[in-house]
Amino acid sequence: MISIKNLHKSFGKNHVLKGLDLGFDKPGTTAILGPNGSGKTTIIKAVLGMVIPDEGSIEMYGKSVIGQWQYREHIAYLPQIARFPENLTVGELINMVKDLRGQAAKAPQDEALLTQFDLQPFLDKRLGNLSGGTRQKVNIVLAFLYDCPLIILDEPTAGLDPLSLVNLKELIENQRAMGKTILITTHVMGLVEELADEVVYLLEGRIHFRGTPAALKEMEHETSVERAIASLLRKQKNQVSFSANGHSTLKVTLSHT
Ligand SMILES: Nc1ncnc2c1ncn2[C@@H]1O[C@H](COP(=O)(O)OP(=O)(O)OP(=O)(O)O)[C@@H](O)[C@H]1O
Ligand SMILES: [Mg+2]
Repeated sequence: MISIKNLHKSFGKNHVLKGLDLGFDKPGTTAILGPNGSGKTTIIKAVLGMVIPDEGSIEMYGKSVIGQWQYREHIAYLPQIARFPENLTVGELINMVKDLRGQAAKAPQDEALLTQFDLQPFLDKRLGNLSGGTRQKVNIVLAFLYDCPLIILDEPTAGLDPLSLVNLKELIENQRAMGKTILITTHVMGLVEELADEVVYLLEGRIHFRGTPAALKEMEHETSVERAIASLLRKQKNQVSFSANGHSTLKVTLSHT
């Protein structure tokens, strides 16, 4: 479905993605994990054409997505930071998105979603006046409005109360049962433990680990995904301080010669 090969992306001197290879061709839920700034959102934006790669290829259904836009009708996307027109009401925004997507995407299911996330009372409220969690619920409803084979959720749990979180998990599980391919980035390891069939861990611009949550736990000899990821992060941190020490040792050696 999606194939990413040798993806490079720099922002100035910051080389974020360094020849990343990643493909998704099966239904199921994949959690894309990595520390803040490791490039998760950059990968997602590159897939959506919102970030232009410096090098490499991204294909959907065997065709390059670079410079294209029609393929996006197959993708449902929840952005990490939703920027809404603040003066519109929730109802106006939903109608606007439905107009924009037109006939291309199937089966608008706004009524059921609005009820599921208790958003009916907010339909006439301006987006600029909503609480953070309520904005996120609007973000979720917009992402799941249409029936797309690929669903990309960038930090979907941000600011949600426990009931909304359970609703979101049910929504994701239902979509998975319908055979969708779902990509999630999250720092909530409980969500990974409950929902992910597969984990992709990003490190220094490449894929450091890809496998089931069980395989990740086994590799790190830990009992939870949270502990396994913490163990990977600790090793990464130690490696950085080791190379910093190596550098200062080198300086001392040079000053003695
Ligand atoms: N438009 C941009 N201009 C300059 N730098 C950028 C831009 N977008 C991202 N970056 C940088 O690229 C790196 C990766 O950012 P990205 O948002 O992909 O990380 P992330 O893994 O999604 O992090 P988080 O867990 O915090 O969401 C960061 O160092 C970020 O500052
Ligand atoms: Mg991000």
